Amino acid sequence: MLDRLAVPVIAAPMAGGASTPELVAEVGRAGGLGFLAAGYLSVEAVAAQLTATAALTDRPYGVNLFVPGAKSTVDVSGYRERVRAQSGAEPGEPHWDDDGYAAKLELVTAMRVPVVSFTFGLPDAHDVRRLHAAGSTVVVTVTTPAEASQAARIGADALCVQGCDAGGHRGTFADDGVSPGGGELFGVLAALRLVRARVDLPLIAAGGLVHGADVAAVVTAGAVAAQLGTAFLSCPEAGTSAAHRRELADGTRRTALTRAFSGRPARGLVNRFLTDNGPHAPAAYPEVHHLTKPVRATGDPELMSLWAGQTYALVRPAPAAEVVARLQAEARQALSAAIMRIPPL
Ligand SMILES: Cc1cc2nc3c(=O)[nH]c(=O)nc-3n(C[C@H](O)[C@H](O)[C@H](O)COP(=O)(O)O)c2cc1C
Repeated sequence: MLDRLAVPVIAAPMAGGASTPELVAEVGRAGGLGFLAAGYLSVEAVAAQLTATAALTDRPYGVNLFVPGAKSTVDVSGYRERVRAQSGAEPGEPHWDDDGYAAKLELVTAMRVPVVSFTFGLPDAHDVRRLHAAGSTVVVTVTTPAEASQAARIGADALCVQGCDAGGHRGTFADDGVSPGGGELFGVLAALRLVRARVDLPLIAAGGLVHGADVAAVVTAGAVAAQLGTAFLSCPEAGTSAAHRRELADGTRRTALTRAFSGRPARGLVNRFLTDNGPHAPAAYPEVHHLTKPVRATGDPELMSLWAGQTYALVRPAPAAEVVARLQAEARQALSAAIMRIPPL
C-alpha cells in the first residue's frame, strides 16, 4: 500500500506527545500517510489513540512500536549523580522495561492496523507473520545496509531508511556505545542508495527532509515515500510542547547527536543539558531515559530534550494538510526544473 499513496509523504511517528490522531487524520486527508507513536505510552493510551484516529478518518494510517533491547549491564549511578548536580533537579530511578511491547503488539494485531512499523530493532518473524495474517504492512526502521539485510530476512514488507540527519532517536538495532550515533553514520541519500543496492524492498527515506525538492530527491533515488518528522512538529495538529515549538521557531541552536537524555543516540537542539552531560552519558536505554524524566519534565528549554532534524531551521510552520500539499507542489516543480537541466543524450 505504501507505493499507492496519493502523495508520497509520511508524517513520522513521534513519541513523547507530538504525534496525535488529529495530525494523522489531516495528513491522511491530504493524501499522505500519518503515524501514531506507541512508544512511552501505556497500552490503554495507545488503544484510546487508535479509537480517536478511527473516529477522525477512514484513511489508512500507521502505528510505530519500540522493540525492546537487552537489559543494560552498565552502571548508571555516576551519571545519576552528575545529572543531579548539573540540573539541580532530583533524577528518577533508572530501570529497564520493555515499553509494554507484547501488549502493544497484541493490540495493533487485533485492531488490524494498516501499517505497523518498528524501531530500535527487529520484531520476531513469527510476529511479522501474525501481522501479515491480520492484513498489516510491516515496516522496519534501518540505519545501515547490514540492518536492512537482517530486516529483509524476517519478512519485513518495507524498510524505513533513516539517515543520521534525522531528528529524534536513531533506529539503530545495537548501540556500539562509542561513536556519537551508535554506529557508522550515513546521510539519508547515502543510506538509501546503499540499502537499495542490498535489498529488493520498498524503501521509505527519513532524515532532514523538509522541502518538496527533498521529497523529489529521495523518490528519484528510489524511495517509495519520504518520511518527515521535524517538518510536522510545528503543525497546529501536533502535540509538540510550547517550549519545543519556541526553540524550533527561533532557529539559532545547532543540532547534535547525543545519549544525554535517554542513553540512546538521538538528534536534538543543543542546550545546556546536552552540552554538559552528552559526553558522559552511558549507552543504557531505557535506564537513562527514566533517570532524566523528572529533569526533562521541568519544561526548561536548557534541560529538556528538543528533538530536531539537522534542517529544522528550514521548516515553514503550517497546518498539516497545507504542509503535504506544499511538499507535493514543490516536488513537482523541482522535478520539472531538474529535467530541464539534464538534456537527453
Ligand atoms: C520528536 C520526534 C520524535 C520521534 N519519535 C519517533 C518514534 O517514536 N518512532 C520512530 O520510529 N521514529 C521517531 N522519530 C524519528 C522519525 O521517525 C524520523 O526518522 C525523523 O523524524 C526524520 O528526520 P526529520 O525529523 O529531520 O524529518 C522521532 C523524531 C522526532 C523529531
